[in-house]
Amino acid sequence: MRILLHLPIGLFLYLSLLSEYRADSDEPPCFVVSRSKCTELGSETKCQFSTDRAQIFCCNVTKEQQLIDFFKNNVSSPDHILAFHMRDSTLEKLEVAIFDLFKKLSSFSLTNSNITHISGAFDGPTSITCLNISHNVIEEMYPFVLLKLKGLKNIVLSNNTNITVLPDFPSDLNKGFKLDVSGNLKLECKYLINLTIAHAEQTIMFSLNNRNSTLCSPPTNKINNYVKPIYMNMDHIDQVREIVANCPSVNRTNKCVCSVYALDMDQHNKPIYQALVNCSRRSMTSLPNKLPLATRVLDVSHNNITSFDGIGSKTFDNIRELNADNNRITSLKPLEGSQFLYQFSNLSLRNNKIDQIKIYMLSNVFDRLQGTRIMLANNEFKCDCPTSSMVKAWLIVNKDHVPDYAKIYANCEKSRTRVIDLDPKDLCAKPAEWKHFIRFVIYGEVIIFVLLVGKVSYDYYIFKTFGYLPWPASRMPKLPCDWCFEN
Ligand SMILES: *[C@@H]1O[C@H](CO)[C@@H](O)[C@H](O)[C@H]1NC(C)=O
Ligand SMILES: *[C@@H]1O[C@H](CO)[C@@H](O)[C@H](O)[C@H]1NC(C)=O
Ligand SMILES: *[C@@H]1O[C@H](CO)[C@@H](O)[C@H](O)[C@H]1NC(C)=O
Ligand SMILES: *[C@@H]1O[C@H](CO)[C@@H](O)[C@H](O)[C@H]1NC(C)=O
Ligand SMILES: *[C@@H]1O[C@H](CO)[C@@H](O)[C@H](O)[C@H]1NC(C)=O
Ligand SMILES: *[C@@H]1O[C@H](CO)[C@@H](O)[C@H](O)[C@H]1NC(C)=O
Ligand SMILES: *[C@@H]1O[C@H](CO)[C@@H](O)[C@H](O)[C@H]1NC(C)=O
Ligand SMILES: *[C@@H]1O[C@H](CO)[C@@H](O)[C@H](O)[C@H]1NC(C)=O
Ligand SMILES: *[C@@H]1O[C@H](CO)[C@@H](O)[C@H](O)[C@H]1NC(C)=O
Ligand SMILES: *[C@@H]1O[C@H](CO)[C@@H](O)[C@H](O)[C@H]1NC(C)=O
Ligand SMILES: *[C@@H]1O[C@H](CO)[C@@H](O)[C@H](O)[C@H]1NC(C)=O
Ligand SMILES: *[C@@H]1O[C@H](CO)[C@@H](O)[C@H](O)[C@H]1NC(C)=O
Repeated sequence: MRILLHLPIGLFLYLSLLSEYRADSDEPPCFVVSRSKCTELGSETKCQFSTDRAQIFCCNVTKEQQLIDFFKNNVSSPDHILAFHMRDSTLEKLEVAIFDLFKKLSSFSLTNSNITHISGAFDGPTSITCLNISHNVIEEMYPFVLLKLKGLKNIVLSNNTNITVLPDFPSDLNKGFKLDVSGNLKLECKYLINLTIAHAEQTIMFSLNNRNSTLCSPPTNKINNYVKPIYMNMDHIDQVREIVANCPSVNRTNKCVCSVYALDMDQHNKPIYQALVNCSRRSMTSLPNKLPLATRVLDVSHNNITSFDGIGSKTFDNIRELNADNNRITSLKPLEGSQFLYQFSNLSLRNNKIDQIKIYMLSNVFDRLQGTRIMLANNEFKCDCPTSSMVKAWLIVNKDHVPDYAKIYANCEKSRTRVIDLDPKDLCAKPAEWKHFIRFVIYGEVIIFVLLVGKVSYDYYIFKTFGYLPWPASRMPKLPCDWCFEN
């Protein structure tokens, strides 16, 4: 059984070694001819064999039929053809199925032409290891054109000024391949982002050639404050990859959605991509414990989060807008001392279970940050004296910071009442009596203190003048330090 399994693999390896087009080390890895080689052909001849008849090159082809005729009339044994190059063609469309007869083809190049459309998929020449489709003006390629080329080691799709979409790469190129997609200024960045993610996850192994001239077009339909660069380079792409790759998830199937929110410059004028992390409706019960580095906006609305625990961790440091509406958060205490508290601009906590707020904590923040907004409608504030007096007064003073101050309710016995409608006269009566009681306690303490000082002074006076201690000091047992005073 083992031998049977190994046999096809061994055979495949043997065949691919046999059929591999071998280039000298200083030549490009794919078989390409120079323009001057084309001038050797007359104006009538479109294709020619190179010296050892294993390679075909074609120049100035104007009709697909010219290729088909040459293959039919001049190629007697297609299995001997290992490499093909077509250049300077005025063809606009090319159907790759016409190459299906070359079962042993190892190198395929199609360059310096005005080809805009490539249709069909390579089906016959699945032994291709080197593919060079550069310096064309490709606008559209069948997405699965390369899917059967499982032996690819080198893919060059560079300098196709009008290419926007990359084809899919065979998923099992597990030994890795070289990729050159440089000079494609209209390429949509999402393809490079996907590739770098797949690379980081080791699902597609490739090394990128000409990284420095690999550029792409960022999406145009972006959120309001996306300062769009004209092109993104691979350093930008790596940052975006970080955002997508570190996107939090509840489990494998329940992931948040992370996207670029804005582009900032750091002090060295290097671009920093800020992330928007959307974990809305993910059945979360706590805050995510890790976010992409530059997370600016976090949406955790419509979850079952009960506590802000963890918001003090570094991962929340860059957040300016946090939407935690429709959760079950009960307390703002974990915010205290967090970096987030001193940096946020919008915090939305509508429809939670918060029963009180720490006025000093938020006042401190509002004093420092003018534009700060906090939304608190529909929570479960206590119906008590502090809410009706201090909190109510504070809300009215800070209504610019708490725009929904008029929709903040307290759970009173009879009904839910707006905090701004609470009357401290109704709720603060008892505490007022307590204040009197406390006053009596303080008076009592002062009297006792005065009596005590009087007694000690009296004892000291008697001891100094008459040499004995009056009762009860004379009856007290000796204390360890009494001897210091006795001499
Ligand atoms: C691909 O073709 C272009 C244009 O002919 C050539 O400059 C380049 O060296 C080729 N690259 C490879 C890897 O064959
Ligand atoms: C082939 O095309 C190239 C570029 O378009 C042109 O410079 C050359 O003259 C053409 N050669 C022939 C033989 O038509
Ligand atoms: C291809 O075949 C045609 C007709 O059979 C012949 O005229 C032509 O010279 C051949 N071309 C090459 C390059 O062999
Ligand atoms: C491709 O088109 C451009 C501009 O239309 C032209 O200058 C160039 O000669 C064309 N190339 C070929 C090989 O036809
Ligand atoms: C590339 O696309 C632009 C806009 O779609 C078009 O104007 C231009 O002609 C295209 N270039 C080529 C060489 O086809
Ligand atoms: C290919 O694209 C790169 C990057 O845009 C550019 O520097 C180079 O000049 C282009 N090559 C040609 C032959 O157009
Ligand atoms: C990116 O990858 C994801 C998952 O692998 C896939 O669903 C999506 O279609 C890919 N997008 C592009 C533009 O290739
Ligand atoms: C690419 O750019 C980086 C920094 O911009 C530079 O250090 C490196 O030498 C460049 N590589 C090439 C091959 O030009
Ligand atoms: C998050 O996604 C939901 C839809 O699932 C959408 O309604 C909401 O506006 C998004 N939040 C942000 C901040 O974009
Ligand atoms: C929250 O949990 C309760 C049960 O514990 C469930 O009924 C409800 O659908 C959950 N809500 C959300 C938004 O996940
Ligand atoms: C993932 O989480 C969702 C919501 O919490 C749940 O419905 C689903 O069953 C979970 N899936 C797995 C595979 O645990
Ligand atoms: C954040 O607050 C500003 C005012 O400071 C407001 O204009 C903006 O709409 C708020 N953003 C969100 C997402 O609520």
